[in-house]
Amino acid sequence: MITLNLDYAQEAYQKSLEKDALESLKTAHKALENGTGKGNDFLGWLTLPENMEQKLSSINDAAKRIKDQSDILLVIGIGGSYLGAKAAVEALRPYFGKTDGVEVLFAGHHISAEYMADLEQYLSDKRFSINVISKSGTTTEPAIAFRRFRSILEKQVGKEEARSRIFATTDASKGALRTLADNEGFTSFVIPDNVGGRYSVLTPVGLLPIAAAGIDITLMLKGAQTAKKELSVKDKSNPSYQYVLTRNALYQSGKKIELFVHYEPKLHFLGEWWKQLFGESEGKENLGIFPSSAGFTTDLHSLGQYIQEGERHLFETVLNIETPKKNLEIQKDEDNLDNLNYLSGRDVDNVNKQAMQGTLLAHHDGNAPSIVINIEKMDAEAFGYLVFFYELSCALSGYTLGVNPFDQPGVEAYKRNMFALLEKPGFEKETKAIKARLNSKKTR
Ligand code: PA5
Repeated sequence: MITLNLDYAQEAYQKSLEKDALESLKTAHKALENGTGKGNDFLGWLTLPENMEQKLSSINDAAKRIKDQSDILLVIGIGGSYLGAKAAVEALRPYFGKTDGVEVLFAGHHISAEYMADLEQYLSDKRFSINVISKSGTTTEPAIAFRRFRSILEKQVGKEEARSRIFATTDASKGALRTLADNEGFTSFVIPDNVGGRYSVLTPVGLLPIAAAGIDITLMLKGAQTAKKELSVKDKSNPSYQYVLTRNALYQSGKKIELFVHYEPKLHFLGEWWKQLFGESEGKENLGIFPSSAGFTTDLHSLGQYIQEGERHLFETVLNIETPKKNLEIQKDEDNLDNLNYLSGRDVDNVNKQAMQGTLLAHHDGNAPSIVINIEKMDAEAFGYLVFFYELSCALSGYTLGVNPFDQPGVEAYKRNMFALLEKPGFEKETKAIKARLNSKKTR
């Protein structure tokens, strides 16, 4: 379903083949499949393509209830409990106007009081349901948002009706959200123990909001199943191998930043999801490519100068949608005062593709190489395929780097400081220590 064009990073790819990188990758792949590598208690995502099939009908039933009883689904979650659904909803729905599903809004993915207050006002006269998502069930950002929006919903429709409009996605037995869901009798879905947040888009974490948005989750899973089959090959014809080998060779040659590049604005949040996946998986032990993203041609008018001529530490991975869902012709204008008639008769996507070709060449000439991932079209099946492709590539890449791609110990540091500053019970010692440290610093 996908092909890679390595012509714009050929040197790095060839170099990786000269070394023993391919053999290390095969070893990593076997360790992943046999469950003998680091973080092997978090390999549940590998079997989601087939295992989630039996859960689809209950997810689709809940999505139907959401659609029947509301016009908006408010998804409350952060990180892996938010980005996958956001990426799918953006990538797979039209840019404007109504579709089959409900409008999907998000909260709990930051702590902006202004955002929450505006959203509360917006929802005050709307029919909405809530899907609160947290694997740990204790994350502060979604917990604050859920407390507020649950109370808004209860005020609007009464406690009983609110109960039927709240859907909780969390651990099977642990965490405050599980206790809350069980005590209140919310419809709930389980995040498997062995699936980490950033690998959870193909669990109810992603699938429920995606289905409520009117997107076919059966097709999405089918795409992931195809990817699992096609990407199990252990040689250099495997697109995951090509991607991992090339990006790692580029990293070894000093390219420390990878830009996820697209030419379709609706892929912006796929880039955000990808950034979390690779950033949290590889960025540890003072290692890892820094994942960033850019939307072209928009960002060619802002970041383009740097990419072409700034410090030579970056490469691009371009996701190229070969055929857009819609296309338009540039018409002829008799007056031609805008001097654009040289384009008349061409379609807009053709211009976009010429921009891409021109940029690939220019950036390659400027020593910013590109890996191009071609996918025929963007639909639910392709999305499911890409999710599995990126997850597998990320896990393989992490293993060849020598890190555990399934933990995120570094995420805890800011939380500990925040809890100490907020004087959370249990953090008394830390509170004293952090206050002493902060006495010597400006707070604003
Ligand atoms: O990938 C991860 O594990 C994290 O990004 C989590 O998804 C994020 O911190 C949210 O955690 P939780 O789902 O426990 O609220």
